[in-house]
Amino acid sequence: MEKTIAIAIDGPAGAGKSSLARTVANRLDYIYVDTGALYRTIGLAFMRNGIGTDINCDIDEQLSKINIDIKFIDGVQHVFLNGEDVSEEIRTPNASMMASAVSALPAVRAFLLDMQREFAEKYNVIMDGRDIGTVVLPDAQVKIFLTASDEERANRRFKELKEKGSNVTYEEVLADMRERDYNDSHRAIAPLKPASDSAIADTTGLTIEESIELLMKIIKEKV
Ligand code: DC
Repeated sequence: MEKTIAIAIDGPAGAGKSSLARTVANRLDYIYVDTGALYRTIGLAFMRNGIGTDINCDIDEQLSKINIDIKFIDGVQHVFLNGEDVSEEIRTPNASMMASAVSALPAVRAFLLDMQREFAEKYNVIMDGRDIGTVVLPDAQVKIFLTASDEERANRRFKELKEKGSNVTYEEVLADMRERDYNDSHRAIAPLKPASDSAIADTTGLTIEESIELLMKIIKEKV
C-alpha cells in the first residue's frame, strides 16, 4: 500500500484549527479529521446518561454502550453516536466542557486512539486536536502548533456562538476557554503541548487568508 501523508495540527480551543485545517485540506485534497468531535461525542453520551463533569460513573460500562462513526458528507465530517448524527448537538458550551472532562480519562483516550490512527493509515489527512503530533501520529510528516492570544481566541468563539443565536457573554466565553485550556494542558495523559518537532503558528492579528498562507508555507517546506 502507498504510504500516506499526515499533517498534525494541535493547539488550544478557538485557535482556528478546524476552519483553517478544513480549508487547507480542501486545497491539498486531503481528508480533514476533527478529533475534538470524537471527544465531544463521548462527552455528549455521558451527559445524556446524567453524568456530570465530575465523571462519577463506571467508565468502561459507559463506553461499552457507545458506538461512534465518522462519515464525510459532501466533504464535511459528520459524527454519529449509535447511528444518530450529533454533529450539531456536540457544539454547545456544555458539550465543550464535558468533552474536556472526558478527554482526561485514559480509558476514553485509548477507546479513540485506533480509530484516529486508522484514518491516517488509509488517507492523506490533516488531523486536528490536542495530542495529534505528540501521541496519535508521532511520525506525521508535518506538525503544526496553532495558537493565538486568549482574547483573540475568545472573541472568535464569542462571535461564532452569537451567530448561532446564543446569549453568552464575551467574559463567559473567555473564562470557559481558559478553564478548558488549563484542564487540557494539565492533565496527566496526553496533555496539550507542542511536539518538540512542531512549527509554532501564532495567528494573533492575522486574517483568515493570512493564517491559511502561513500554514501552506509551513506545509510546503515539509511535503
Ligand atoms: O477541539 P475541540 O474544542 O472540539 O475539543 C474538545 C475537547 O476535546 C478539548 O477541550 C480537549 C479534547 N480533545 C483532546 O483531549 N484531544 C484531542 N485530540 C482533541 C480534543
